[in-house]
Amino acid sequence: MRRPVVMGNWKLNGSKTMVTELLTGLNEELEGVTGVDVAVAPPALYVDLAERLIEAGGNKIILGAQNTDLHNSGAYTGDMSAEMLKDFGATHIIIGHSERREYHNESDEFVAQKFAFLKKNGLKPVFCIGESEAQNEAGETETVCARQIDAVINAHGVEALNDAIIAYEPIWAIGTGKAATADDAQRIHASIRAHIAKKDAAVAEQVIIQYGGSVKPENAASYFAQPDIDGALVGGASLDAKSFAAIAKAAAEAK
Ligand code: 13P
Repeated sequence: MRRPVVMGNWKLNGSKTMVTELLTGLNEELEGVTGVDVAVAPPALYVDLAERLIEAGGNKIILGAQNTDLHNSGAYTGDMSAEMLKDFGATHIIIGHSERREYHNESDEFVAQKFAFLKKNGLKPVFCIGESEAQNEAGETETVCARQIDAVINAHGVEALNDAIIAYEPIWAIGTGKAATADDAQRIHASIRAHIAKKDAAVAEQVIIQYGGSVKPENAASYFAQPDIDGALVGGASLDAKSFAAIAKAAAEAK
C-alpha cells in the first residue's frame, strides 16, 4: 500500500505574517487527520520559521523546500545546499518543476543530477515531470514523461526511484484552473508506472506518483479515487489553510 502524500508548493509567496498564519491554521485543521503525509515547501527564506511553527504544532506537517543546488558548501555565491535544508529539518525537496525547467533552463540531465545529490544527502526528491500544451495536443505526453524519467534511470539506475516521489504536472494545467480530468491523469500515471515497471516492477509498485495542476478541494477526491494517483502537489490552493487541509483530508479518506 502506498501512503498518499499531499504537498503544498508555495512557490514565490510568503511573508513572516503569512507563513505564521498559514501554518498555525494548518496545525489546527490537521488535528486528528491520519492516513496521509502532509508536506509544505515554503520559499527557502521561510524554512527556518516554518520548522519552528511545525514543531509548535506537534510535528504533524512534513517540511520541504522548492529546490537544491548541487554542492553542499564552497564558493558558490547565491546557492543553497541540501545539507542546509537538512539542518532546518526539510526532507521533501521539489526538483525539476516546470517553472525551473522553463525560467532557469534546467535540463533533464541537470535535474537528474539534483535527484542523485538529494538521495546522496538522505533527502527525498519530489521529482516533477510533465508535458506542455503543444506536446499534449501532439499526443506526446507519455513519451515526454518517459524521457524525463529516463534521465534519472539512465544516470543512476531504476533503484534511485526507491523512496522517491514523482509529481506528474501537465504544464498546461498549472495555475490555469484547467485541470486534467481524473481519468486522463490516471491513464498517464498508469503509463508512468508501467514504464518504470519495464525496468523493475517492485520499484514501480512502491513509487508515489502525485498529480499536480489546478488541484482544488472540489476536484481532489476524484483524483485520489484513482488507483495510480497517490497524492497531489498543490500550488495555489495550498496557500489557504482550509483549502489545503480539505485536499489532504480527501486523500486520507480515499486511500
Ligand atoms: P497550481 O495548483 O496552482 O495549479 O500549481 C501546481 C503546481 O505547480 C504545484 O507544483
